[in-house]
Amino acid sequence: MTKAVIPAAGLGTRVLPATKSIPKEMLPIVDRPAIHYIVEEAVRSGITDILIITSRNKVNVEDYFDRAPELEERLLAAGKREVYDEIVSIAHMANIQYVRQKETKGLGHAVLCAKSFVGNEPFAVLYGDDVIISPPDKPATGELCAAYEKYGKGVVGIKEVSPQAILKYSSLSVTPLEDRIFAVHDMIEKPAPDQVLSLYSILGRCVLPPEIFDILEQTPPGAGGEIQLTDAIAREIPKGKTVACKYDGERFDCGSKQGFLNATVHYARKEGYRII
Ligand code: UTP
Repeated sequence: MTKAVIPAAGLGTRVLPATKSIPKEMLPIVDRPAIHYIVEEAVRSGITDILIITSRNKVNVEDYFDRAPELEERLLAAGKREVYDEIVSIAHMANIQYVRQKETKGLGHAVLCAKSFVGNEPFAVLYGDDVIISPPDKPATGELCAAYEKYGKGVVGIKEVSPQAILKYSSLSVTPLEDRIFAVHDMIEKPAPDQVLSLYSILGRCVLPPEIFDILEQTPPGAGGEIQLTDAIAREIPKGKTVACKYDGERFDCGSKQGFLNATVHYARKEGYRII
């Protein structure tokens, strides 16, 4: 699998007021924006072509993955070769393209904006605000891609969440196929306490067949009046066309203040900073 889509066009209202002028995907976790870690994960998973779905006020996402000639010259002139190399390498991480989602009509609608980029191939979706920290040789997207290759079915990345959290997410009915891989039988979005199927929820990553675009085109707006990706995935589940992969890494929802803070502390510790 070579293509990935990173939806990053949301309004980020949970991280206001910062997101009034800074995209949440650009909030720095220690010294690099959240979306840097996500592109890095895609590349480590074998992805070569990435489409980032952007929107108004998100041009600095494009600037970040572009060359910066004036800055680069200054760094070279100052003998800061190591920083120069790092800055230039960011522009060469992958072949990154952009398309604008003109109205914020939901994650499903954002993915639909990738239709012509994807063509007739399976592709990975990495949510632009979900940072997953995995062992270097086991990127979460790579685990999902391997499951897609093996089963030839759409793969949703899942994690176990708390009984309180499952009420805000989706709840899946699953049975194990092998270590970390499950058959998916049913899904309920934002279940009432007596509807919870399991504590497994779709979180942050999926690998989808190109047929998902036809389904998205027929998916009516759901929660919040937005076209939901999970609603389109739910339509495929009864056909037995979906497996779930409980990826190994730790997921941080950087679209929430708490998740962003947790990711920051985690990386800061990893980098050897002292948390006072
Ligand atoms: P979220 O639901 O977390 O994004 O979508 P949001 O709407 O920005 O969040 P809040 O609730 O207002 O804080 C998950 C991912 O999908 C993208 C977001 O940018 C995020 O990376 N997204 C969401 C889009 O690209 N387009 C949309 O219309 C909605």
